[in-house]
Amino acid sequence: MTYAMRIHQPGGPEQLSWDEMDVGPPGPGEALVRQSAVGLNFIDVYMRTGLYPVAGLPAVLGMEATGVVESLGEGIEGLQVNDRVAYAMVPGAYAERRRIAAEKLLRLPDTIDDRTAAGMMLKGLTAHYLLFRTYPVKAGDTVLVLAAAGGVGLILCQWARHLGARVIGCVGSQEKAELAKANGADHIVLYRQENIAERVRDITGGEGVAVSYDSIGQATFEASLDSLRPFGVLATYGNASGPVEPFSPAILAPKGSLYVTRPTLASHTATRDLLEEGAGRLFEAVGSGAVRVSVNQTYALSETAQAHRDLEARTTTGSTVLVP
Ligand SMILES: NC(=O)c1ccc[n+]([C@@H]2O[C@H](COP(=O)([O-])OP(=O)(O)OC[C@H]3O[C@@H](n4cnc5c(N)ncnc54)[C@H](OP(=O)(O)O)[C@@H]3O)[C@@H](O)[C@H]2O)c1
Repeated sequence: MTYAMRIHQPGGPEQLSWDEMDVGPPGPGEALVRQSAVGLNFIDVYMRTGLYPVAGLPAVLGMEATGVVESLGEGIEGLQVNDRVAYAMVPGAYAERRRIAAEKLLRLPDTIDDRTAAGMMLKGLTAHYLLFRTYPVKAGDTVLVLAAAGGVGLILCQWARHLGARVIGCVGSQEKAELAKANGADHIVLYRQENIAERVRDITGGEGVAVSYDSIGQATFEASLDSLRPFGVLATYGNASGPVEPFSPAILAPKGSLYVTRPTLASHTATRDLLEEGAGRLFEAVGSGAVRVSVNQTYALSETAQAHRDLEARTTTGSTVLVP
């Protein structure tokens, strides 16, 4: 038997229920993983509230974790019992032990500890695809990062800077401003009191940014568009303030033939090749020290409801890890 954090119906953090479950032995192609650290992500909130669907109820929430392979089903190559592994974007992570498709697992380098791994897989793979695929950042580009002191945000700022970009980070408080600056942001916009597009025009001498990496969604959609240079790219990749309202593509023409994309890590890790390419670059960036992962909050997995409350209240910074 094992314990897992489930919802029986969508709703607030109070719906999270610490339930005893029977995991069962791994089937063909599956591994049984004893988990040591689970990453908290904003997508867990969307799934808890019902904004994003879950496969069925009751549902074990959570999308990323680190652990050790306890046993293997038939037909698995390249993995062994006792291997340290991690994964991202696989529902069912809020658990002490779980079964998982082995093809979703990545063996961890010794240089990356368990909690760091749980704090970086989903967020770091997201930063990777945004920086290398959605808009491939070039040295000299100016990029806008919203929620720059958040989990994905701190990784994005450091990595973009490492690639030679000038980074403008938007944050909700002075404390977060200091953190974003210490992690690669060259300029800060305090977007609760300052106008994002006006400040971006000031900073860029009127030109605008090559790309806006916008995880806030509804509240900042127009500001992101108004911050872009001609042919700029809006990567609207999250809904922390709510989903973006429907809009007409015609609004993109007078602003300079802009591009808008709504990417997801699910497509960017849909094949083993895509997953390994992203993980390879991420492990290298973290292993070399180009990107430091800040696990700034830890909670017992049984206290996940409080972690959700804090994430939604905008009081967390960097990554948050839940410990089984
Ligand atoms: N599409 C994808 O593939 C993908 C993958 C991973 C993550 N994401 C998205 O990336 C975002 C960041 O995820 P994360 O887990 O690293 O979270 P996070 O950035 O650590 O936390 C969310 C931050 O968003 C800001 N925010 C602004 N308005 C908010 C509001 N109304 N409610 C709550 N927060 C608000 C807050 O920072 P300030 O106080 O500085 O405003 C808050 O700390 C999320 O939107 C998530 O959905 C998307």
